[in-house]
Amino acid sequence: MNSPVSYEIVDSIGVITVDNPPVNALSHAVREGILDAIHVTKSDESRAVVILCAGRTFIAGADITEFGKPPLEPYLPDLLNEIEASEKVVIAALHGTVLGGGFETALACHYRIALDSAKVGFPEVKLGLFPGAGGTQRVPRLTGIEAAVELMASGNPIGAAQAADLGLVDKVVSDDLRQAALEYAADLVASGAPIRRTRDLDVEAVDDGVFVAMQAELAKRARGQIAPLKMLEAVKGAVTMPFEEGLLQERALFWELMQGSQSRALRHIFFAEREAAKIKGLPRDATRREIQSVGIIGGGTMGGGIAMSFANAGFAVTMLEIDDEALERGLSIIDRNYGGSVKRGKLSEDQAKTCRDRIAGATDYASLADCDLVIEAVFEDPQLKKTIFAKLDGVCKDGAILATNTSYQDVDAIAAATGRPQDVLGMHFFSPAHIMKLLEVVRGAKTADDVLATVMALAKKIRKVPVMSGVCYGFIGNRMLGPYMREGQLCLIEGSTPSDIDTAMQEWGMAMGPLSVGDLAGLDIGYKARAALPVEERGDPKSYRVSDALVEMGRLGQKSGAGFYSYDPETRKKLSDPAVLEIVEREAAALGIERRNIDAGEIVDRLIYALVNEGLKIVEEGIAQRPGDIDVVYVYGYGFPAWRGGPMHYADEVGLEKVLSRINEFRQRFGDHWAPAPLLVQLVEEDLTLAEWAARQ
Ligand code: 3HC
Ligand code: NAI
Repeated sequence: MNSPVSYEIVDSIGVITVDNPPVNALSHAVREGILDAIHVTKSDESRAVVILCAGRTFIAGADITEFGKPPLEPYLPDLLNEIEASEKVVIAALHGTVLGGGFETALACHYRIALDSAKVGFPEVKLGLFPGAGGTQRVPRLTGIEAAVELMASGNPIGAAQAADLGLVDKVVSDDLRQAALEYAADLVASGAPIRRTRDLDVEAVDDGVFVAMQAELAKRARGQIAPLKMLEAVKGAVTMPFEEGLLQERALFWELMQGSQSRALRHIFFAEREAAKIKGLPRDATRREIQSVGIIGGGTMGGGIAMSFANAGFAVTMLEIDDEALERGLSIIDRNYGGSVKRGKLSEDQAKTCRDRIAGATDYASLADCDLVIEAVFEDPQLKKTIFAKLDGVCKDGAILATNTSYQDVDAIAAATGRPQDVLGMHFFSPAHIMKLLEVVRGAKTADDVLATVMALAKKIRKVPVMSGVCYGFIGNRMLGPYMREGQLCLIEGSTPSDIDTAMQEWGMAMGPLSVGDLAGLDIGYKARAALPVEERGDPKSYRVSDALVEMGRLGQKSGAGFYSYDPETRKKLSDPAVLEIVEREAAALGIERRNIDAGEIVDRLIYALVNEGLKIVEEGIAQRPGDIDVVYVYGYGFPAWRGGPMHYADEVGLEKVLSRINEFRQRFGDHWAPAPLLVQLVEEDLTLAEWAARQ
């Protein structure tokens, strides 16, 4: 087999080229190839060595597909020590995304030259790991402790110029990296530049107090994730131990993380996110329609955020409102949001202005005639949506894609209001739409393949994570939220306080507790939805009586200053409210419920297994393409802790047999709404995990 690494001598400089598409990951063959080449350089006539990469990027990290399998020699830390030990000057030439083990490779070289567009960083924490090939020992020697810890704890890459300021890159060039690297190598040789081994640099001495403070800060930020704290422990080794010992400790801590459930979960999410972007049966290069201009109907909470997402990605946007006043209101919220981005340093004034200038307002449907894509985000009223789609059918050009941001309505019924249902689909954004990463792409029964392929690819351009859903009430995410919220409300009326429930869920890892989520979204939404249904279709009164009573008292949630909690009018701080408990007790008594003590374990199991059970039904019905898609929805759209891998992965980690037996127990105690999903019963009978089952589909 051809090696992905080649070696040649150019003008007496040895050039090692890694060519391992798509991202030059450090697979076994790459590690072996680099090691062989380094061995050759020892005795050939090269005067210096350049390591560079073909394709779109320098090495973007270790090969994650090899994680969890038995490691093969040469191990990366050993290879990097070998590069660093070279008696010839070794220069890394960086472009693209120089990440993780890729950046560690560069730091083991003696000098680093980078294209100005290159980005460098350590995303390992996002995989439940930290740099495990000398990064925790070498970075502090170059940048000092605090900058090193920040870089490795955030997981976010920095640009070449900033890397140069921090001492991580020696030279930045604007083009022809290969030529510039060859010239740089020749200059270093000509000037007799020393072989500068990072390991030999002194480490800044820091007080133990600095580590104590950093640990407290990281523990707060990490919210249950252990990798950042282990990283800190490894970095501390750079200060307290000789280099070799520090490396050994780093390796031990890295392996501990690699074997653990958090990294397994985060690696699952990494691949699930990429898998979710693929539609079964559609080739990767499926035909797509050209999208340049986007129309948005409705400039409220969602429309404004959707407009910003497209404008930020360079699209021309026309936002249509019902009249001038509503349009002014919508545009002024967008102005305020851009102002906030500038204030927080997310965008420069110029960048914000450029993006804002891409959004035009309109009140006349004719202004949408030339749009390539139109997204409707008006009130959740099925009749209104159908009227709008019929109107769009009349004004939009042939081939325009027509999307609805509906949360619950039937996309097929909306498509049927047009004479072109093949051009219609759902694009379900999450609030705030310019920030939240998830986009559920709802495929209608008649949605054309090229429409679907276009929107899945478009999602990536506007920096969203797309997941395809079939049509059903609430699609993937909100459909699952129903039983989850139901259990939250049932725990409340059966004995818990709002804060018992929210604290249990947050301590387990959810970004917010369910009752706080209810207050944020507005309790009136569910109230109105229920009011539209006949009583017998509203579900068990135990699961909504308290919420409805709150709404009837004007406690709509945060927007009215009170809901399950009250909110300080000045600070908006959430406060427990004895009045709520009185209502809960009153409603419980009216329904004949004797309240009892419910422990945190029961709260968590009921809420999470409610998600799991509904998720299994969704997979079985084919609404989601695969279990991993559901995990991506929950992690990116609903604040599910990524380090638990999403509800489906979590069920596999717990063990499906255990999950089933707890669900059966709940069924006996609480009733048939806990009937287990048939797929769960089947998998337990067949002794299969969900992941195994999914791999066979
Ligand atoms: N290992 C194996 N495969 C990888 C990979 C890696 N490190 N990084 C990306 N890939 C694969 C993806 O799975 C995807 O495969 P697919 O096409 O079959 O779905 C393909 O490469 C392209 O990836 P993206 O779709 O993500 O491409 P983008 O251009 O959008 O992004 C990227 C490129 C920024 C490099 C992004 O892929 C990324 O962030 N990759 C992960 C980088 C990373 O985490 N590196 C650290 C690894 S851990 C480590 O190095 C440990 C060390 O300290 C010892
Ligand atoms: P909103 O009430 O904030 O905004 C709706 C806007 O539509 C209003 O500004 C209104 O003036 C405008 N509008 C009404 N009729 C119109 C018409 N005929 N032509 C043009 N504009 C018209 O509502 P929100 O929250 O933005 O919701 C919009 C849609 O997005 C709904 O379908 C909702 O279910 C969905 N959604 C809402 C989420 C949320 O968290 N708010 C999350 C995801 C989806």
